[in-house]
Amino acid sequence: MSNRTFTMIKPDAMKNGHAGAILDRFIKEGFRVVALKQTKLSEEKAGEFYAIHRERPFYGELVSFMSSGVIVAAILEKANAVADFRTLIGATDPAKAAEGTIRKQFANSVGENAVHGSDSDENAAIEGAFFFSGLEQY
Ligand code: CMP
Repeated sequence: MSNRTFTMIKPDAMKNGHAGAILDRFIKEGFRVVALKQTKLSEEKAGEFYAIHRERPFYGELVSFMSSGVIVAAILEKANAVADFRTLIGATDPAKAAEGTIRKQFANSVGENAVHGSDSDENAAIEGAFFFSGLEQY
């Protein structure tokens, strides 16, 4: 079990001014920030990041949304990081997300769902390395 996960604060949450509140929540829940940056994905880069979903019907919509505005990307550290972070953010569809979760509080829809969280230790490492070099991780 690795102690790191990767997250993005998505364009909807950025546009709605929730980045500060969401980062504050990560930290208050015990996640240490290992790396952090604001950036914008080109359509090409968003397509590459979500290549695993290429065959899904929502792929085009996902790529277009994720490249529609700035995002915040971060690597976070805590014991049991991947599973605990997914509990903190809640179900992919905010209508199904538990009370007290970040998506329940800040997400609009299954597509525009405020935050991303890695679904496995392996993907956390791949996704973190997509945005950050080893020298950017402290
Ligand atoms: P995320 O955890 O970032 O990884 C894949 C994303 O695809 C997911 O969050 C959702 O934002 C998006 N997604 C999943 N299901 C759907 C859907 N039915 N329609 C649109 N987007 C979706």
